[in-house]
Formats: sequence, C-alpha cells, structure tokens
Amino acid sequence: MENRKYVLEAKGISRTYKGEVPVHALKETNIAFREGEFAAIVGKSGSGKSTLLRILATLDVSDTGELYIEGENVTALNDALLARFRRRRIGFIYQDYNLFPEYTAYENVVFPIHLDGRTEDRAAIEALMDKLGILHCRDKFPHEMSGGEQQKTSVARALATEPAIILADEPTGNLDSESARNVAELLSFCSKEYRRTIVMVTHDQSMADYAERIIRIADGVVSE
Ligand SMILES: Nc1ncnc2c1ncn2[C@@H]1O[C@H](COP(=O)(O)OP(=O)(O)OP(=O)(O)O)[C@@H](O)[C@H]1O
Ligand SMILES: [Mg+2]
Repeated sequence: MENRKYVLEAKGISRTYKGEVPVHALKETNIAFREGEFAAIVGKSGSGKSTLLRILATLDVSDTGELYIEGENVTALNDALLARFRRRRIGFIYQDYNLFPEYTAYENVVFPIHLDGRTEDRAAIEALMDKLGILHCRDKFPHEMSGGEQQKTSVARALATEPAIILADEPTGNLDSESARNVAELLSFCSKEYRRTIVMVTHDQSMADYAERIIRIADGVVSE
C-alpha cells in the first residue's frame, strides 16, 4: 500500500466563534496537503477561508480535531514549542499584511529570521525584494508604501525564512494583474523548484488557475 506522506494534515477540525449568535465558521473538516503541492482555497466572503487557513497555520486553535505538521501532532504542543515550530516551518501571508508600522520594509521582511536568532543573507533578501518589485521600498515604513507594496512586503517576509509550508490569505488581493501574476508565479516556482507546500486563498479565478488543486469552501464546509 502506498505510504502517502502529508506535510500538513487536519483531522476533524471545526471552529465556532462564540457570541450572541454563535458562528459555525468551520465544520468538521478533514484536509491534507503533500510536499510540493500548490493548492488554492476558493469560496465566497465569510465562507470560512481565513478561519481554515489560520488554524492550518497554528495561529488559531480549532475546537475539535487534530493538526499534524510533518507527521507531528502539533495540537499537543505547548505555546513556546508551537511558536518555534511555526517560526521555522510556516510562512504566513496575511490578508491585511500585518506589517509592523515602526519597522521599514526590509526590517519587516527579516523580522522572522531575527526572531529565530539567525542572521539574514542580505544579498538574498534584497534579491527576493527585487524579484517582487519592492527593492525601492527597502527603507520605507509601511505608511509610506502603497497597499500593493505592503502586500508584496508581506509576501517577501513569508518567503524569507524559506519555510516548508506557505499559507497565503488573498496574497494578491491588492495587486494589479501584472503584480498578481508575478506573485502567483513566485509561489508556483517555490512549490515546483523547492518542493514547498503552498495553500493560497483567493477570490480570483485567474490566480486559482496557477494551483494544481482547487478546494472549495461554502458555509464552513470544504469540498473538492
Ligand atoms: N473573530 C471572529 N469572531 C466572530 N466571528 C468571526 C470571527 N472571525 C470570523 N468570523 C465569522 O466567521 C465566518 C468566516 O469568517 P472568515 O474570516 O473565515 O471568512 P473568509 O472566507 O475568510 O471571508 P473573506 O473572503 O471576506 O476574507 C464569517 O461569518 C465571519 O463573520
Ligand atoms: Mg478572509
């Protein structure tokens, strides 16, 4: 029997946001991703895409189920171990960029590397920023940059640590079509050339076309 190795696997995860009216944002979901896979998650606004992605990234905890990263059950890890795991294995591109306003673009990009106690390869970081067309923003602060430039900075930050898993929440939501293609091609390159696992949330069919697998989500229910 084929022994299929998943890099990222969620078993029976669900998430309800409590409140006056509880929102069942994610219902009993099983989903798994292999090494080198480029998957897109598509669905309407409010369908649960960000909820699913944040749980896969260990940025949020599911109410039920388990999450396995590279075969390890991370549901059981304590916060400190989990943070280290996340830092080393996962790159996350936030829907709202999530840049530090008091740091320049370059400082934002290298932040996760420094957090891990390492020193960046300056030339490699600059090459990455150049590839994304934001080298001219090197020393700018987020408020001095356009939305698209901030988004590309967030992409660079996620790729800078060379993580095995890249989770991208609408990484091209604020980009013109040429920049969007550029980002999609870079993600595609990362999956093909470096065998990274990419999961990208998108509204845009032309972005989803870059992925080799499309996952649909509606009202917290996932289908393929
Ligand atoms: N922190 C929260 N507290 C309460 N409800 C929330 C919270 N975050 C999300 N929700 C609700 O959960 C549902 C799923 O939200 P989610 O952000 O996952 O959607 P989405 O598919 O990413 O939407 P979009 O395309 O607009 O980004 C929505 O009904 C939303 O209102
Ligand atoms: Mg969202």
